[in-house]
Amino acid sequence: MEQTFIMIKPDGVQRGLVGEIISRFEKKGFYLKGLKFITVDQSFAEKHYADLSAKPFFNGLVEYIISGPVVAMIWEGKNVVTTGRKIIGATNPAESAPGTIRGDFAIDIGRNVIHGSDSVESARKEIALWFPENQVNWHSSLH
Ligand code: CMP
Repeated sequence: MEQTFIMIKPDGVQRGLVGEIISRFEKKGFYLKGLKFITVDQSFAEKHYADLSAKPFFNGLVEYIISGPVVAMIWEGKNVVTTGRKIIGATNPAESAPGTIRGDFAIDIGRNVIHGSDSVESARKEIALWFPENQVNWHSSLH
């Protein structure tokens, strides 16, 4: 079954949006398969956003993500990557539709409350990074 990685960013946690966000994914019909409340350090945040390292906003983005605890989650269900992105709304809250999480709760692209994997491949990589304990070690399981 398809899985995606969803992270409630420090602003979402500080503003008390954790329950609301989890509720939206649950009510849609997705299954919560992993959850951790965690503050990450700079090198971890740089790994998560490695694809954006050349962007002018990269340093500010990393500082923002390490500024407080985040809620990292694995959600599972049919088309959860694409549908999850629809629930979240466009990256820039100025363009995200009302009814989406960013459309309802954010106004600034640099404080956009939540992250969701943009493809099945990104989801696989992000889940492996944030939930390494979930990865089955096939080699050692043979011995
Ligand atoms: P996210 O879905 O986590 O993926 C990449 C993040 O980069 C994005 O949400 C925003 O938080 C951030 N981002 C993208 N574009 C900009 C920008 N122009 N200025 C600041 N932050 C940005």
